[in-house]
Amino acid sequence: MESIVDTSDEWIFERTGIRERRIAPPEMTAAAMGAGAARMAMERAGVAPEDVDILIVSTATPDRLLPATSCDIQALIGATNAVAFDVVGACTGFLYALTVAEGYISTGRGEIALVIATEKLSAIVDWEDRSTCVLFGDGSGAAIVRSSAGEKGILGTHHQSDGRLANLLYRPAGGAAIPMDEEVLRNRTHLIQMSGREVFKHAVRAMADSAGQALARSGWALDDVDLVFPHQANIRIIKATARYAGLPMEKVFVNVHRYGNMSSATIPVAMDEAIEEGRLQPGMKLLLVAFGAGLTWGAMAVRW
Ligand code: UT7
Repeated sequence: MESIVDTSDEWIFERTGIRERRIAPPEMTAAAMGAGAARMAMERAGVAPEDVDILIVSTATPDRLLPATSCDIQALIGATNAVAFDVVGACTGFLYALTVAEGYISTGRGEIALVIATEKLSAIVDWEDRSTCVLFGDGSGAAIVRSSAGEKGILGTHHQSDGRLANLLYRPAGGAAIPMDEEVLRNRTHLIQMSGREVFKHAVRAMADSAGQALARSGWALDDVDLVFPHQANIRIIKATARYAGLPMEKVFVNVHRYGNMSSATIPVAMDEAIEEGRLQPGMKLLLVAFGAGLTWGAMAVRW
């Protein structure tokens, strides 16, 4: 990074906690990454592609603006019986997509949902802007969601957005309002722009508030929570949110140092790592909490 922009390893680590990121090669699309995660999730859950009824993709980096990346993933994995669509909730998108899946299943419109978060942030980052290019990474995670008897599942959810703050983190051009042209390319306005300090302030308050509301809706007390999976954007945001919400850091899963901010993919990737490490055990009470462009935010209480 020091050879690309005016920054230092010391600044990046002190201000963000990030040591490494994963950058996908040019030929590896968001759909290809998502298909990889989806295949692993299906295999572990014992679900065949044709068993999937609902395929929902969260992405801020669709491979194409039309059609949805979910349709490309559907074709790649052969989930031929599914309805496939994308959810655009930025970094909160995985939680929003889980909630849509829960709605489909609980209303009897399908039995098995495949929820995928896939993000190729390296393709939309301005590699000349040191205030953003040092933060983001590429990655993908996926989950199979289905109904279960007993006490397991999504027990309390709180989601909220504030579109008045959209310009704090956005891609100004390249959509239908300001289509791509030479001026857009010259001014680099098709790439991510962020008011980092403002986003930081909103993130801490909003995530702490959402965490409290999701817990209240699940009937849990703070002490009941075994493990917290916050969106991994910045270790300082994670620590400040935990402090503000009254959650001890020992219960908070952190891997931002290895991956940077992978937008909506951070939570499923963190959960997968926690399973691999043996830290996430059946029966645990989890709190998932996220924040992102929109602005969007939310939290979810889950009995694993
Ligand atoms: O995924 C959800 C949405 N995104 C986020 O959650 C990100 C939220 N924001 C943040 O994580 C932090 O605000 C940042 C990591 C982006 C920035 O940290 P900060 O402590 O808020 O720094 P700052 O923006 O206030 O900048 C402090 C200084 C500035 O210089 P001056 O004005 O004090 O002279 C910046 O120009 O650091 C400078 N700076 C850098 N210096 C070296 C900004 N980026 C860099 C850099 N290397 N990469």
